[in-house]
Amino acid sequence: MECQLTITRTEQKKEKPASDKLGFGVHFTDHMFTMDYTEGKGWHDPQIVPYSPLTLDPAAMVFHYGQAVFEGLKAYRNQEGKVRLFRPDQNFKRMNRSLERMSMPLIDEEFMVEALKQLVAVDKEWIPTESGQSLYIRPFVIATEPCFGVRASHTYKLVIVLSPVGAYYAGGMKPVKIYVENNYVRAVRGGTGNAKVAGNYAGGLKAQVEAKEKGYEQVLWLDGVENKYIEEVGSMNVFFKVKGEVWTPALNGSILEGITRDSTIQLLKDWGIPVVEKRISMEDLHTAYVNGELEEAFGTGTAAVISPVGDLNWNGHQMIINGEKTGELTTRLYDEMTGIQYGEREDKFGWSVKVTE
Ligand code: COI
Repeated sequence: MECQLTITRTEQKKEKPASDKLGFGVHFTDHMFTMDYTEGKGWHDPQIVPYSPLTLDPAAMVFHYGQAVFEGLKAYRNQEGKVRLFRPDQNFKRMNRSLERMSMPLIDEEFMVEALKQLVAVDKEWIPTESGQSLYIRPFVIATEPCFGVRASHTYKLVIVLSPVGAYYAGGMKPVKIYVENNYVRAVRGGTGNAKVAGNYAGGLKAQVEAKEKGYEQVLWLDGVENKYIEEVGSMNVFFKVKGEVWTPALNGSILEGITRDSTIQLLKDWGIPVVEKRISMEDLHTAYVNGELEEAFGTGTAAVISPVGDLNWNGHQMIINGEKTGELTTRLYDEMTGIQYGEREDKFGWSVKVTE
């Protein structure tokens, strides 16, 4: 592949949003990265260019058959101005697994990490520095060939855009209310659940809308075969602390292999807290709750990092967890993970990657 990255800087810098009005994914920086793929030629023309709309043929295959994968990661800037990424190699590794699943061309992971570092360095002034704020990074690949044949496209575009984001919990970490979904499913065995593909999220929206109508913020997804076993919460992986042990659903092909999930497991093991990756039925979780053994529950993901669950509704059985307060372990994990991300705590696993000194 062609590795010569060209940089064209904008002549018209945009006004940056006020730091108390960032929100999530609504403001975009001055530049973006793009690279094209053509069958027979491979990936070519990697470039950093001024942020601008894409021009696509209306017959481009992404619009019709949904060949689209994406990633999400963040850049952090501390008070001294040092910029860091968190495990970016893992995101491009997972992007390759998603691309492979969607019959799309693989990327050079090392080159992509280097290209991303350059893009983030070009737009580093956009990285907010207040507590909990960061630059959300959205790499994605779409099929661009104009064709209605149901087959893999012969051309693709990879784009990375950047968005300054605020603290996920504006008023501090707050436990969420979750509805256990037993009608819709997110993914099935053999499907695309473990790939980060656009369609997985589109298919999940209706359950989210209906949960909101019932007064819940998100859904807990159960397995698509027996509707019994816990898979994910909203767009996050899920963990439960039961009698001092931490349970999380074992990866089974329909669960997304979260990078925050993996980091959480490594931290817990390092702290000597037993972690069990297994099939967890709603029935077993409810029994643990009734016996007073369910101590904490939380989701893990890039956007929120760690998100406490305070209330679960399963077929009308209400489960109030830790008095709807954020648990001790949940808080410890959040503090440690964000401490490493901002470069404030020791990074013994080598997860934090410096973009600028
Ligand atoms: C996450 O970071 O938790 C997500 O997957 C959410 C993202 C799709 C906005």
